[in-house]
Amino acid sequence: MKESYGMGLRRNRTSPALRNLLSSESLHPKKLVQPLFVAESLADREAMSSLPGVFRDTKQTVLSQVESDLKAGTEHFLLFLVPGHKSDDSIPVQFYEDAIGGIKKKFPEVFLWIDTCLCSLTSHGHCGLLDKKGRIDNDSSVKRLSEIALCYANSGADGISPSDMMDGRVASHRRILDSNGFEHVPVMSYSTKFKSNFYGPFREAAESTPGHGDRSSYQIDVRNREDSLLSSLRDAQEGADLLMVKPGMTAIDLIRPIREATDLPVGAYQVSGEYASLALLAENGFCKFEDALRETWQVFSRAGASYLITYAARRGKEILS
Ligand code: PBG
Repeated sequence: MKESYGMGLRRNRTSPALRNLLSSESLHPKKLVQPLFVAESLADREAMSSLPGVFRDTKQTVLSQVESDLKAGTEHFLLFLVPGHKSDDSIPVQFYEDAIGGIKKKFPEVFLWIDTCLCSLTSHGHCGLLDKKGRIDNDSSVKRLSEIALCYANSGADGISPSDMMDGRVASHRRILDSNGFEHVPVMSYSTKFKSNFYGPFREAAESTPGHGDRSSYQIDVRNREDSLLSSLRDAQEGADLLMVKPGMTAIDLIRPIREATDLPVGAYQVSGEYASLALLAENGFCKFEDALRETWQVFSRAGASYLITYAARRGKEILS
């Protein structure tokens, strides 16, 4: 970290959108982050049957989505980039530059976080690279991830959001950002991320289902409270600016302890399976979707979440009014 930034507290103050996201006010549409998917292989946008109101976009069609979301009052986006060609040894720089640059050139006012992981890129769908024996190779994974983080920043990303769960990624991203003139770019870490059954619809959207095995050698075991806390504390020490629990609902008990232990903003990710389950209840006439969403958001707020990533962020104003 550069001397002048010290603990880096100024990073979270550098834009109006970040100040809105992290204010200590209660739930507000500006504290919601909208996920976006841009998939290189698509000829046109497609709706996701499991996630009503969510689309997989091309780098063109995403622009009209962002335009209407901005009009609806959404400022923060979390972009998932899904390359058409899967590769374990190269970075699709052009696709990343075009997708990120396209959005930021047209809408410089949005705050664009980029999910930083390898699962949509690798041939096997794991979040890290594999060694010859087929085990996750932590250090080469972190090196590749930091190169990707730098590519995102070079393309105009406002924030980097590591979701891979490798050891040392936050410190490594901070180092590569700082040494390339991106001291102001914050890291929003998926700091307490569990291995979960609630990511199913997402993996379809991100083309990231592991071809073999599962993610239990890198994502946290839901039975382990100590690891859940340690994981966020460690990311705080490595220089993360924002922390996160995920899935939100099954990690609800950890939000306040993490916040008290680190004094950093802690958000919750209402993941695809959580959103889809409310949609299914509503489709079957068992609840009203918007009311059920509002209830969950109020509970995240009660539990101490300072921001919320949700697939219905773009409907925030309407749902909270
Ligand atoms: C990538 C990543 C995942 C999600 C966000 N980033 C999937 C996973 O870990 O398998 C899940 C988001 C959701 O379900 O909405 N590693």
